[in-house]
Amino acid sequence: MRIYSGKNYKEMSRKAANIISAQIILKPDSVIGLATGSTPIGTYEQLIEWCKKGDLDFSQVTTINLDEYKGLSGDNDQSYRYFMNTHLFDKINIDKAKTFVPNGLEADSAKACREYNDIINGSGGIDLQLLGLGHNGHIGFNEPGEAFEKETHCVDLTKSTIDANKRFFEKEEDVPRQAYTMGIKSIMQAKRILVVVSGADKADIVAKAFTGPVTPEVPASVLQLHNDVTLVGDEAALSRLLEITGR
Ligand code: F6R
Repeated sequence: MRIYSGKNYKEMSRKAANIISAQIILKPDSVIGLATGSTPIGTYEQLIEWCKKGDLDFSQVTTINLDEYKGLSGDNDQSYRYFMNTHLFDKINIDKAKTFVPNGLEADSAKACREYNDIINGSGGIDLQLLGLGHNGHIGFNEPGEAFEKETHCVDLTKSTIDANKRFFEKEEDVPRQAYTMGIKSIMQAKRILVVVSGADKADIVAKAFTGPVTPEVPASVLQLHNDVTLVGDEAALSRLLEITGR
C-alpha cells in the first residue's frame, strides 16, 4: 500500500485529485468508482478546477458510485445522486448518461441490486475506485458484520452510520434506514483503489483498518488483501497509522 500524507485537508484533497487526474489523462475512457460523504468534496473541487482550466477532460469517462439511500429520488437533496450532480457532475464536462448511481426509487431490492451489478459488470471493470472510510470501518455502505457481502445488496444502516449521517438531515427520523451499496467483491475487483481520509476522528479506524486483522467486523480491513491501494490522508487522520508502522 502506498501512503501519501497532506499537511491539511486541502493538501490531501489535491493529492487525491492528482491520482484521479493522472488516471484519466493516461486512460481518457476510464471507469472511475466514486464516493459521497464529506471527505471527497475537496477532491471533487480540485478536479472541477482543473476541468474548467481545460487540463482535465471527462468527456469519455464513466463513473459508478458506491451507494444510494433506498427510497430517495435523485431530486431529493439528501440523495447521493443529487450530491454527485451538485458536487461534481454538473460542473464538469461529463456525459451524465455515463454516470451511474444505484436506483434509490426501485422498491424491489433484488431488482435494484441485479441491475446495478449488470452495470458494474458491463462497464469493463472499474479502473480506479475512490473510497472514504466510515468511523465504524465501513466502505460504501458495507457495514460491520459477519461476512464480506459480495455484490450490490440492500443494507440496514447501523446506528453509528445513522448517527454520523444525521448531520445532513433536518431530523434523525429523516435519515433513511436502508441503502443499496456496491459489495466488497466488486470493490475488490477494481484495478486500483484510492482511499481518502481526513481528521483526527478517523485516526483510530485508519490504523485498525490497515494494521489490524482482516475481518468483516472492520469491512475496510479487506483492502489489505488488494494489491494496488493508495491511502491519501491529512496528518491528523494518518497519525496513529504512521505511529504504528513507524513511517
Ligand atoms: C459514501 C460512502 C461512505 C463514506 C463514509 C465516510 O458514498 O461510501 O462509505 O465514504 O461514510 O464518510 P465521510 O467522508 O463523510 O466521513
